[in-house]
Amino acid sequence: MKIVIVGSTGQLGTDLMKMLSGGHKVIGLTHGDIEVTDRNSCLILKEHHPDVIINTAAFHKTDQCEEEPEKAFMVNAIGPRNVAEVSKEIEATTIFISTDYVFEGTKNEPYTENDVPNPINTYGISKLAGEFFTRQNPKHYVVRVASLFGAAGASSKSGNFVETMIAKAKMREPIFVLNDRWVSPTYTRDGAETMKKMIESGLPFGTYHATNEGFCTWFQFAKQIFSLLGLKPALTIIKTTQMQVKAQRPKFSALRSVKLPKHGIRAREWTEALADYLVEMGYKQR
Ligand SMILES: NC(=O)c1ccc[n+]([C@@H]2O[C@H](COP(=O)([O-])OP(=O)(O)OC[C@H]3O[C@@H](n4cnc5c(N)ncnc54)[C@H](OP(=O)(O)O)[C@@H]3O)[C@@H](O)[C@H]2O)c1
Repeated sequence: MKIVIVGSTGQLGTDLMKMLSGGHKVIGLTHGDIEVTDRNSCLILKEHHPDVIINTAAFHKTDQCEEEPEKAFMVNAIGPRNVAEVSKEIEATTIFISTDYVFEGTKNEPYTENDVPNPINTYGISKLAGEFFTRQNPKHYVVRVASLFGAAGASSKSGNFVETMIAKAKMREPIFVLNDRWVSPTYTRDGAETMKKMIESGLPFGTYHATNEGFCTWFQFAKQIFSLLGLKPALTIIKTTQMQVKAQRPKFSALRSVKLPKHGIRAREWTEALADYLVEMGYKQR
């Protein structure tokens, strides 16, 4: 297949490029190559005549989305609309990467594809709008991921949670982490592998959750990183109410797929994925 990846140098985009290059013709588009908010710029997608277009582009600084809602909607909703429209015109499949933040976070057990989204912040609302626009192309996959960690780091967030924790520990800084918010940490390499399997097995179009298995609080995530590395930094639990942030976050936004296992696609536990990430980054021997 010929596959175009929008946001090819981003955290997930980088691993999608690597993963899909095995067996497919993959074309990566950076932000310099395409501006998804600009319909004319999206015409570059047509030039490549791809079978599949994966859109990883996003404005995902959650607090900044509250301050710049217009930008959030342009990148996270109008951008996906442009990509879906162009994809539809050339009969290509659109894959839109969405987020756990489309859920409100009151469920206390992982959200599945059968749960109804109800976002509580601008980022989540704009991504949900992006999901709806993507569905205008009947040939679509909306793939929700969460709490990503990958070798390329989130380009707009300067690293990822794992890198932030390791850097703080090395600087011997006191570390304060939330223990009242639950997430599904997800290795971008595993997310990319799941999407490769989805594309190759021709799954029915629709919405899928592609996180690693299991969930934890941010504090438990941090503890696992330090335990695997044998580090013992000064780690303190804090509560969401002690943090001054612009955007409200879901309390429990872990995801689980009930659809992928029916097609024989099953992700491994986040702890196993984390151990592999630390090896990939050279922090740990196998
Ligand atoms: N990171 C997470 O923890 C997380 C959690 C849940 C869902 N997600 C979703 O997963 C996807 C990938 O996240 P990520 O961590 O890989 O993000 P990332 O590292 O920031 O990558 C996004 C890529 O898209 C590009 N981009 C941004 N705005 C664009 C625009 N207007 N037009 C064209 N390209 C643009 C960026 O380029 P520049 O950096 O050069 O602007 C970057 O290469 C996003 O859709 C995000 O909403 C992420």
